[in-house]
Amino acid sequence: MELNRIVVIGAGTMGSGIAQWFAQEMCQVELVDASPAQLKKAQDAIHSSWNKLVEKEKLTSCKVNQMKKLLEFKALEAVSPNAHLVIEAIIEDLQIKKELFKSLDRFFATSTIIASNTSSFPITQLAEAVSDERKKCFVGLHFFNPATIMKLVEVIKGQATEENLCRSLYEWFDAHGKKPAISKDSPGFIVNRVARNFYGEPLRIVGEDNESKMKEVDHILKEIGGFKMGPFELMDLIGIDINYSVTCSVWEAYGKEPRFAPHPLQKKMVDEKRLGRKSKHGYYKYD
Ligand code: NAI
Repeated sequence: MELNRIVVIGAGTMGSGIAQWFAQEMCQVELVDASPAQLKKAQDAIHSSWNKLVEKEKLTSCKVNQMKKLLEFKALEAVSPNAHLVIEAIIEDLQIKKELFKSLDRFFATSTIIASNTSSFPITQLAEAVSDERKKCFVGLHFFNPATIMKLVEVIKGQATEENLCRSLYEWFDAHGKKPAISKDSPGFIVNRVARNFYGEPLRIVGEDNESKMKEVDHILKEIGGFKMGPFELMDLIGIDINYSVTCSVWEAYGKEPRFAPHPLQKKMVDEKRLGRKSKHGYYKYD
């Protein structure tokens, strides 16, 4: 499978990491965002991360110069319409995503694979926005945060996605050092279904906006449970808004089963724009 020209749409937490990873794999990448300021922020963050890797002698400056040339930051209208793969990584909002897919379907060549990095929306439902022809090459590619480091990529087959496409994507990611997993198109796919209670139960245990209790839960799960990050630290890394949207969407999809219910603190924080690391204030404060 030839995957060399990649377009990533959304230069937030996930899109910027996905674009950086593809450039590190020496693919040509065009990164797009509706906000020019966000695009500039992503460029600065990626370049600074590469410069640090040169300082630590993990990458050569020659390789980083090549990667900087491979990764371009653009407006959607300026990207190449004959990309091999387009990955959508914009906010977790079904209607906004569907609007975007409608226009991507018109813009890109019929051979272009269109993928969504959604954490929770059914791929079959997102594919309603594209033509029947495109549905065959419309797929879920769910990366994890941070995308440059986390190896798992869930490859999600929608109802009309070609089986062979999923298999080829699996093989491509496997050959490029990721650990792909083919998932059914079920709510939350694999990880976000299993992980719901990793967030929900600690929220119910603490029950209020209390930093010292949250620290205690994070400490116990890391030091005794052996998890790399505690649930409150992880929600701050993911983004409180994204985590809240995913919680709501999985809860709705399972007929509002109480075990998946969102906690009122999540909504309160989204309303207050306490979004985690990206807004420098979530369950914890950041410099
Ligand atoms: P984010 O909020 O950090 O970034 C979203 C970006 O999309 C923003 O920069 C925004 O300006 C841009 N955007 C919004 N509408 C747009 C449009 N119509 N066209 C172009 N750009 C647009 O969100 P994040 O965390 O990167 O999440 C993106 C997607 O990835 C979501 O679907 C989320 O569920 C999924 N995801 C998130 C993970 C996480 O840990 N944050 C992990 C895995 C998947």
